[in-house]
Amino acid sequence: MSSPLTLSSTNHLPQSFVVPLKKRPEKEVPLGKDIPIIDIGQPEDVLVEQIGKACRDFGLFQVVNHGVPENLMAEAMKVLKEFFELAAEEKAMFYDDDGKPYDLVPNLSQKAKLYAEGNKSSEGEFNFWKDCLGHGCHPLDEELVNSWPDKPATYKEVIGKYAVEVRNLAKRVLDIICQGLGLPLDYFGKELIQNQMMFSNYYPPCPEPSSTLGVGSHCDPFLITFLQQDLYALQFLNKDGQWIGVEPISNAFVVILGLTFNVITNNVMEAAVHRVVTNQTHDRISITTFFNPPNSTTIEPEKQLLSEKKPPLYRPFTYVDFFGNYLSDDYDVGLKHYKI
Ligand code: OGA
Ligand code: NI
Repeated sequence: MSSPLTLSSTNHLPQSFVVPLKKRPEKEVPLGKDIPIIDIGQPEDVLVEQIGKACRDFGLFQVVNHGVPENLMAEAMKVLKEFFELAAEEKAMFYDDDGKPYDLVPNLSQKAKLYAEGNKSSEGEFNFWKDCLGHGCHPLDEELVNSWPDKPATYKEVIGKYAVEVRNLAKRVLDIICQGLGLPLDYFGKELIQNQMMFSNYYPPCPEPSSTLGVGSHCDPFLITFLQQDLYALQFLNKDGQWIGVEPISNAFVVILGLTFNVITNNVMEAAVHRVVTNQTHDRISITTFFNPPNSTTIEPEKQLLSEKKPPLYRPFTYVDFFGNYLSDDYDVGLKHYKI
């Protein structure tokens, strides 16, 4: 695994970033005007209907008027920009070259770490055009927060507040989803979101966008993801197999269902396949907050959603077992091991 881009300040596309032909991005990808943008300020019954439909039809949607203060979102973007702009020596302390993109399985007290994202697949090994700073966000104990960057000086305060606000929003959205599925309130709000992690991605301008990707096509292996972005780059594979662009809205969160949802809802709601393209002129930061269960949690189709006509499509497994398969199986086919 080569060192993060911002430590080596690459200004040409080295061979290690060249993505196999089959996986490269198409030139023209339209913006998806039909991806739902949902106003969380609407009456509850409207929200249950709209979010339920968005989860069933897309697995990806945007939320606005969601209660996370706009100035906090702007501050979070600012501290991350300042972090990634630090001199290489100041960031190097967060990088350890143990050959793994991150600890294989997320855990509650995940220390802050800077890494390059690699990809191992049948077509060979390559890196994506991004650096990532990742760390745990819940519970916010002293040891965890101490592992976060000291620079910029406001990082810990701003990101600490941000983590709490995004958690509240996630609980709200998950409660709305519960109602749509006919499950008790707080069904997702306990064990299934016990882990909260933040991965902030830095995508430098890229000399050769047609030969590489910021992140290749994948589904997130978590329960649910809340993503903040302000520059276009994120694309989503719709049910017709077409890539469409996700419009950047700086005060919105993009909500992305992860693979855990497929299993629990027995495929009523499914994870969104997505990827990130690069561009030649602008750098881009995205902040992703992931929620997932502890490693020992058993994931299985929820019995209340099963019937004679709807038999389980997956057998039970532990989250840790799935995560191992996900990482070793090219990032999107990890669930195949559990299909009945
Ligand atoms: C991810 C991801 C999207 C983005 O980190 O899993 O899909 O826009 N990121 O950076
Ligand atoms: Ni993702």
